[in-house]
Amino acid sequence: MTQHLLSTSDLSAADALTILDVAEEMSDVTTREVRKLPALRGKTVVNLFFEDSTRTRISFEAAAKRLSADVINFQAKGSSVSKGESLKDTVQTLGAMGVDGVVIRHPASGAPRVLADSGWIDAAVVNAGDGTHEHPTQALLDAFTIRRRLHGAASRGSWLDGVRVLIVGDVLHSRVARSNAWLLRTLGASVTFVAPPTLLPSVDAPFGAVVEHDLDRAIAGRPDVVMMLRIQQERMHDAFFPNPREYNRHYGLTAERLAQLDERALVMHPGPMNRGLEIASVAADDHRSTVIEQVANGVSVRMAVLYLALTGGWSDRGDDTEPRQEALA
Ligand code: NCD
Repeated sequence: MTQHLLSTSDLSAADALTILDVAEEMSDVTTREVRKLPALRGKTVVNLFFEDSTRTRISFEAAAKRLSADVINFQAKGSSVSKGESLKDTVQTLGAMGVDGVVIRHPASGAPRVLADSGWIDAAVVNAGDGTHEHPTQALLDAFTIRRRLHGAASRGSWLDGVRVLIVGDVLHSRVARSNAWLLRTLGASVTFVAPPTLLPSVDAPFGAVVEHDLDRAIAGRPDVVMMLRIQQERMHDAFFPNPREYNRHYGLTAERLAQLDERALVMHPGPMNRGLEIASVAADDHRSTVIEQVANGVSVRMAVLYLALTGGWSDRGDDTEPRQEALA
């Protein structure tokens, strides 16, 4: 049996905890001398990337290889997609070669779900970012990173109850914001979006989050986590703020704002960062910053997602917990 990961809104708290706990096991493996498990030997994973990516694609590739899967990297640029081949034909071609998992990044929101529902290919589908919609593995690695920093060795099995998270910046165009809002709230955290009205969806309580327009006031509320979002210039076809300097003055994590944060607060960013725009270099490189840890944790979390998705999923783990433990030994 396989399972898709399309959205964090599909995950129950129990499902999310299963993934995070298996990611802890995977993380133990990544610190061993031989960083490899036989868990997906004989399986094939395709990385199907229709949008540019550095860290996510490499992270999925490393994750699949550490589980001993065969990996095929497919980039739309230079493929028959640039000759006009459709998603359906591309996927069916890959399916004919025998594929167990498809990791897809696509500029169109909803493309991974279309693929999962289509029957074009018999494989687990993992959403690696679709348009402005969702980026579930980013949210899972963010939750994993927060849990580890806040709970340390007691991380396994723990929730994010009462953790106060600010998500700051370009919420409107950010799939990271949306996936994080669902997941962090499912795990018990409270989420506040901090952004100018032009960079927020025009609905009340978007994705269940509280909205605040004043970053200084939000920081004065002593958040546990400040997650900065990249200004998504490539998705902006309008003027959403007067100019970069003005944006930085109101919504940037500057040295002055960094100084207002608690000593134990976390500074997060999914990368790639616009240093000097949404985040000052001193904040990105501060000891409270988790930017590099997020990248490292991303591999463990994606190992967990691929492993679970290709071997039976996270829901209803039932009695087959034991063979899993063996496979991870
Ligand atoms: C994010 C993405 O692609 O949505 N980056 C990533 O996956 N590392 C965030 C972003 O591009 O701003």
